[in-house]
Amino acid sequence: MSRPALLAVTAATALLGLSACGDGGASGPAKPAAPPKPELTAEQKAALLAALPTPYNQGDLDNGRRVFARCRSCHTVSEGGPNMTGPNLYGVFGRQAGGVEGYNYSNAVKTAGFVWDAEKLDHWLENPHTFLRGTKMSFAGLSEPTDRRDVIAWLKVETGYVPPAAEAAPAPAQ
Ligand code: HEC
Repeated sequence: MSRPALLAVTAATALLGLSACGDGGASGPAKPAAPPKPELTAEQKAALLAALPTPYNQGDLDNGRRVFARCRSCHTVSEGGPNMTGPNLYGVFGRQAGGVEGYNYSNAVKTAGFVWDAEKLDHWLENPHTFLRGTKMSFAGLSEPTDRRDVIAWLKVETGYVPPAAEAAPAPAQ
């Protein structure tokens, strides 16, 4: 029984050896030094919220997070998050509809020809199927205007702010 165990150890050692060479493999153990993106401060969140037009700037972020629970089975919101049934929503504000590289959109979304903003999202989330006929997003819609307002506000705060400090950070040493 010890031979397979020995092989496993050897394989693991080989993997460790590879990632220690800095080949950039995603599965390596703890990357040194790259600082995690700082959490947004309450002030930064408030500023993002305030930048939205009325009524979205009055959105209730706690309710927005609760409403987004209905989207989570199909969407991630973090930077570099995977596409699932639906595309990753990081950076959706200001992005061309159908703009996530590598995601297989319906023609309806691919050829929509607009950029997402709060109002477009509002129409979309009220009823995706009447807003973009032929979409494959199987979601009936959010009938409550306050739910749409709140989830849009929450998305604005959660999907795209890059703090200047993170952009200015030096590249990790090779
Ligand atoms: C059952 C899965 C599912 C659920 C639930 C769902 N979506 Fe989607 N969503 C999709 C799919 C699939 C697409 C791609 C639609 C297409 O290509 O026609 C999509 C597309 C989108 C887009 C367009 C993205 C782009 O890159 O143009 C947005 C914005 C969006 N969804 C937001 C939401 C929000 C917010 C919720 C919750 C209120 C939600 N979705 C719930 C599956 C889902």
